[in-house]
Amino acid sequence: MFISTVTANSGAMLLLRRCRGLTLLSTRRLPVAPAVASCAVRLRSSSAEDQGSYQRAHRPGWRHAVAGLLAGTGAVLAYGLHQHKAEQEAAYPIFSQEEVTSHRSLQDGVWVTYKGGVYDITEFVAMHPGGDKILLAAGGALEPFWALYAVHNQEHVLEMLSEYKVGELNAEDLKKQKTMQTLDPYSSDPERHPVLRINNLKPFNAEPPPEILSDSFITPSAFFFKRNHLPVPQVDPATYLLQVEGLPGGLLTLSLEELKTRFPKHTVTATLQCAGNRRSEMNAVKQVKGLNWGIAAISNATWSGARLRDVLLAAGYGPDVARRAGHVQFEGLDKDVTGTTYGASIPLNKAVSEEGDVLLAYEMNGADLPADHGYPVRVVVPGVVGARNVKWLGKIIVSADESSSHWQQNDYKGFSPGTDWDTVNFKSAPAIQELPVQSAITAPADGAVVDRSSEELTVKGYAWSGGGREVVRVDVSLDGGKTWQVAQIRSSEKGQAPEGTPPTGRAWAWKLWEITAPLPPGAKELKIVCKAVDNSYNMQPDTVAPIWNLRGVLSNAWHRVNVKIREDEREE
Ligand code: MTE
Repeated sequence: MFISTVTANSGAMLLLRRCRGLTLLSTRRLPVAPAVASCAVRLRSSSAEDQGSYQRAHRPGWRHAVAGLLAGTGAVLAYGLHQHKAEQEAAYPIFSQEEVTSHRSLQDGVWVTYKGGVYDITEFVAMHPGGDKILLAAGGALEPFWALYAVHNQEHVLEMLSEYKVGELNAEDLKKQKTMQTLDPYSSDPERHPVLRINNLKPFNAEPPPEILSDSFITPSAFFFKRNHLPVPQVDPATYLLQVEGLPGGLLTLSLEELKTRFPKHTVTATLQCAGNRRSEMNAVKQVKGLNWGIAAISNATWSGARLRDVLLAAGYGPDVARRAGHVQFEGLDKDVTGTTYGASIPLNKAVSEEGDVLLAYEMNGADLPADHGYPVRVVVPGVVGARNVKWLGKIIVSADESSSHWQQNDYKGFSPGTDWDTVNFKSAPAIQELPVQSAITAPADGAVVDRSSEELTVKGYAWSGGGREVVRVDVSLDGGKTWQVAQIRSSEKGQAPEGTPPTGRAWAWKLWEITAPLPPGAKELKIVCKAVDNSYNMQPDTVAPIWNLRGVLSNAWHRVNVKIREDEREE
């Protein structure tokens, strides 16, 4: 009885779908196919956090129009669109999980379920911004995949999906699915400090409030910014093994204990900064894609561990290797649903240089690495963008090639302000390694109000430069850049003896700076600006627009904060 209703309804539905499928098949077989494929490649070149690529992929008008024109099926197209609308208005047929599961390939059709709805997404596969990873969900539920890639939890993604709805899942199978879906891939993520400002919960991405950041030269681990692309992996230190490949000694495998005991422990104080730090200022100029970081996706810690150089030497690194290899690749133990791990690489010369100070760190601020920061072992590449500091390190590969990972090849690269998502060619730009000079004001906050009676104002902030270049000066202006004063900079905790000057090219830690200035008489507002200068005399650009780029990376324009001065009541 139940089945016959289904069959009657689904017969009509299948006819309609075949109609849509016919248009689709024509599209695939005609010469338009390479164009469609290259579009898919272009779309894929954006990051998992790239929300707009979904909007680009969602071009039903374009899709139907091109397919229709080329196949000479304008009439079919018009009919299809009309019928599709009617189809959505009709009651949907009920399918069993078994029926859904039988559609798990491009030949049989690609069906998925979401919250009890059944969707035929065959047509969408080639346009999925995340590439053919979508096929992993074929024949099953989308929820476990969307739980991992939170980018999908947006209204326009749901709207897009609704276009492909073909039916409903039967109640019994829906109940079974819900029981299965209580498993959350992020359920074993660690507890985090409540003061952190969360940019994204799953995966976890958060930064401390700026005023806390400049309180301490060494950022307490709980407040250190956290940037995860995937769930935090659970790693058992007793069974942990680090693999080193690509060297004449063959595969070297090291337990945590061996890493700690076979190699001297080396300690480095180094600042990590995410490529997307201060992205929100680029967003204010023109929308970019990525998490909307404020000024605190940067922190400073003391890291201890074995030198990567020592480990590579133990694995047989020598001059012959330097002749054939140019990169050291790292793979994390955090995986996506396809089993693909987070990965990145750095130039071989940075990895093996005695002055490079690259660590396989197992301690942060004198304690075991916290889970969020890569327990039990992470790479610390001083002076280099956060993305290459691979956490939960599983494998090191010495190679002639850069890492092929998405994050090395198709993300974390800089482009001209004139490059947009339709013209971007990720192959044309180098992967970001050393970062440019940076500084920002951590206090007062933008929009703060200062009482005239306080007579003076203290402005605080941080400054840092990539590649071991030391910040030698921070200029601060209270009038939008007309006049400047030099801030006091320090490289130790307040009140403690200053650290000695770091060796040239090895200034890995940030500087904190501060200036106390009288409130200018008559001023109602202060336009506070800071800019840093490093020892190569690199300076920050004054505005964001000329360095704007579609991913919102490398945002290092003069930092600006406006505060109001409240006059004393008796003077008003
Ligand atoms: N390593 C792994 N395995 N997985 C990741 O998601 N994120 C990278 C890098 N290393 C990441 C990783 C990025 S983009 C940054 S900015 C830094 O880790 C952040 O390090 P933190 O979370 O310790 O601050």
